[in-house]
Amino acid sequence: MQENFKVTPWEVSGSVDYDKLMKDFGIGQMSSFAEKLPKNILFSRGVVYGQRDFARIAEAIEKKKNFVMMTGLMPSGKFHLGHKIVAEQIIFYQSLGAKIYLAVADVEAYNARNPDLAGLRKVAIEEYLLNYIALGLKPKNCDFYFQSSRSRDGEKANAYYSLASLCARHTTFNEVQAIYGEISPGKLQAALLQVSDMLHPQLKEFEGSVPVVVPVGFDQDPHIRLARDISQRIKIQNFIQLSSTYHKFIVGLNGGKMSSSDSTSYIALTDSPEAAAEKIRKHAFSGGRVSVEEHRRLGGNPDVDVSFLYLKTLFEPDEKKLKIIYEDYKSGKLLTGELKQILIEKLTKFLREHQRKREQARKLVGKFLK
Ligand code: TRP
Repeated sequence: MQENFKVTPWEVSGSVDYDKLMKDFGIGQMSSFAEKLPKNILFSRGVVYGQRDFARIAEAIEKKKNFVMMTGLMPSGKFHLGHKIVAEQIIFYQSLGAKIYLAVADVEAYNARNPDLAGLRKVAIEEYLLNYIALGLKPKNCDFYFQSSRSRDGEKANAYYSLASLCARHTTFNEVQAIYGEISPGKLQAALLQVSDMLHPQLKEFEGSVPVVVPVGFDQDPHIRLARDISQRIKIQNFIQLSSTYHKFIVGLNGGKMSSSDSTSYIALTDSPEAAAEKIRKHAFSGGRVSVEEHRRLGGNPDVDVSFLYLKTLFEPDEKKLKIIYEDYKSGKLLTGELKQILIEKLTKFLREHQRKREQARKLVGKFLK
């Protein structure tokens, strides 16, 4: 049967059937863990939807044992609401005591997209790091690095790059093709470097044997499957199997994909509050009816309404308030313009505050680039 969606590390398109994806690849549900974690709407409202081997991390959290959270960022374009979902998870794990490893995927970007290392570095700092800091990321217990220059400490750098090279022996062309299909040498190299990103925290030069959780979007699962397979074949050390979680993709303003290459699809965290409000009024896909009269009579559909979805995913943590908005929209009591206005007010407040913090964050950048 032909799929009407596609989710790979290099292409996401169509309307994603997450349950099918999880069934096909053996990804588990996150819901049973969500209840036991400290309260966070990304977990309790099912944005972080899938997991592999998360029990090990849940146990580490519960027993206050050491664990690492490792993830990576692709330094391309503007930092938007989709990236905020990742940032909030990173900061959540840091607040729970995890050591944070953050890779800037500049080698991957160079090999797969855009060979301008200096430009990539600038985007990584101006767009990603500054926004992470403004959202609450702390320099303590955070190892922020570029794939192209892992560490000034030679032993650490050697360990990371050796691991990436040695991984090559432990996969085969057949396996690589089964996971990725057609793949260029540059992309394959980037995939093996990403395997090292995910496994190297366990090397003795870094944290030693410790559970590692990798929070990512569903498109990254092929890399995780490769890393999990390789880690159990490699004999230089006994790697603890990786844990991972998968968040759903945030919907774009137009109801499709949120993409850094289309500014009418996203709200960037550096958009002025006025510009953001305008984007919502103009572009946010509405679950409302064609006329006020019809809307009052038949009610709207909050489940496909982008403004409602942003409130649910990011901007209205209060369960009761969210429920009232949901029901009022569904019954027709709340009109589309009014719903948009609720979001605009929340967003304006957030952006003002965030952009002030972002300027102050500049002072801290040096602490992350040691
Ligand atoms: N490939 C990831 C992306 O496209 C970035 C990345 C690099 C990454 N290394 C990683 C993600 C390690 C998770 C873990 O966004």
